[in-house]
Amino acid sequence: MDKPKHHIFVCASFRADGEAKGMCNKKGSIGFLPYIENEILDRGLDAQVTSTGCMKACDHGPVMIIYPEGHWYGRIENEAAVDEILDALEDGEVAESYLIE
Ligand code: FES
Repeated sequence: MDKPKHHIFVCASFRADGEAKGMCNKKGSIGFLPYIENEILDRGLDAQVTSTGCMKACDHGPVMIIYPEGHWYGRIENEAAVDEILDALEDGEVAESYLIE
């Protein structure tokens, strides 16, 4: 397996006991995973998406983090937000309006 150039982490609110309990899950973060997967393929991005446990940034949820850029994004509440962030990733830029400072 080749390592992806970009790794997109989407908070699925998993707690230590495996229970998906938290703001990101309540706001539908898991529903974005297939959309992001499809966008990666459609855009030909060298990227992988992975769901995670709580990122401890619940107030900003749903949260999505991209490495190695180290960009933490919040308030990902619809596909338009995902599109804006992936557009910025493709252009080597930052989607400022969703950035968690
Ligand atoms: S539940 Fe997503 S950051 Fe805590």
